[in-house]
Amino acid sequence: VASPTGCPVSAAAVAFDPFEPPYQLDPAEALRWSREQEPVFYSPKLGYWVVSRYDDIKAIFRDNLTFSPSIALEKITPPSDEALAVLERYGYGMNRTLVNEDEPAHMARRRELLDAFTPEALEAHAPMVRRLVREKLDAIVDRGRADLVAEMFWEVPLTVALHFLGVPEEDMEQLRRFSVAHTLNTWGRPSPDQQVEVAEGVGRFWQYSGQVLEKMQRQTQGKGWMYDMIEKNRQKPDVVTDNYLHSMMMAIIVAAHETTALATANAFRQLLSRPAVWAELCANPELIPAAAEECLRHSGSVVAWRRRATREVTLGGVPIPEDGKILMVTASANHDPSHFENPDELDIYRDNAVDHLTFGYGSHQCMGKNLGRMEMRIFLEEFTRRLPHLELEEQAFTFLPNTSFRGPEAVRVRWDPARNPERRNP
Ligand code: HEM
Repeated sequence: VASPTGCPVSAAAVAFDPFEPPYQLDPAEALRWSREQEPVFYSPKLGYWVVSRYDDIKAIFRDNLTFSPSIALEKITPPSDEALAVLERYGYGMNRTLVNEDEPAHMARRRELLDAFTPEALEAHAPMVRRLVREKLDAIVDRGRADLVAEMFWEVPLTVALHFLGVPEEDMEQLRRFSVAHTLNTWGRPSPDQQVEVAEGVGRFWQYSGQVLEKMQRQTQGKGWMYDMIEKNRQKPDVVTDNYLHSMMMAIIVAAHETTALATANAFRQLLSRPAVWAELCANPELIPAAAEECLRHSGSVVAWRRRATREVTLGGVPIPEDGKILMVTASANHDPSHFENPDELDIYRDNAVDHLTFGYGSHQCMGKNLGRMEMRIFLEEFTRRLPHLELEEQAFTFLPNTSFRGPEAVRVRWDPARNPERRNP
């Protein structure tokens, strides 16, 4: 087998399949061979150049002229004709947002939309996050068993995301299903039958987003980031364009909730599977922010991100042609021993955990990272205080097969309600 540039493709590169269990279960481990032997390789199954080392990935993030983000939300599996027909029927027109916009349009737009992310603006959401987590905890605290994903890990971040955006908090179950369809549509490998079903979900999500947007555009006094955008769209329609508004409406609902939901599930799984670390957090809650950061490094919720080479370029000694598509496996970079000592260890005292690439890097770096971090912190604060004796149940973790969004579909836990601290000190 040869790559499009005529280079031979190794057996490991031919075998690489991010939709199969090894990558789903542990993407960093699945790419250990690559980090060690072949840090940039062509994957015939994907049609992408895969990059696995920290320094190479950071260099790509740094240079968004050579490495365009334009394909960040492209369907990684080419859609079938039937799926395309379904999308067309819904008038599907997802295009540029921020994350997949080139310069100079991207920075011009991003600069207009920063106000919602000042530390003060974000801190204003903290009481709501805490109230939501407490309500959800109240509902289960005497029960003794729960699947934390089903009980709260998706619903709280979704509620917070909608509130942050100013989107009415309605149809939550449906939005959850739409998000899964969007993830599979963008980063998954749905079977031909699934493709049509997924396209139906995505098409309906597109229509729904348009309807919500129109409703919001008729309001004059709404509060939230989408209202900031609507206002900028009125003032500077060439910077914050009409199509941007609709595309962003759909993309951001997912970006702002799914990422945080999965990150929280990953963090609880990792911390609870290390009872000594969990006990340390319960005894010293001031360690929680550092622990959350280390979980984002060790088991991030975004594990791979994409760029397109705008010209012929050599990366790690490997030539990549113009228009070559690149999959940066950030989960692998986060386990690169050249940057992180004992990278596979979850070490809440690690001093460079924050160097992880789970939020991307450079001019497109996640705008919502501090909102995501705050939610994780509050979840951990409330749980370590109210259920320090929480234990992970024996379970096989499962994941939605896709290249980029990763977190367990369930996190089953148990505890003895008789030992709840609030029963001892009411
Ligand atoms: C961009 C991850 C939470 C809004 C990104 C990118 C990643 C990411 C990997 C692409 C970065 C790049 O290309 O360099 C995450 C993770 C989160 C999270 C892991 C949670 C743990 C959020 C939240 C919001 C948000 C809560 C919204 C409030 C955005 C936006 C961008 C972005 C607007 C585009 C920035 C740009 O292109 O300029 N995020 N995200 N994210 N994220 Fe997040």
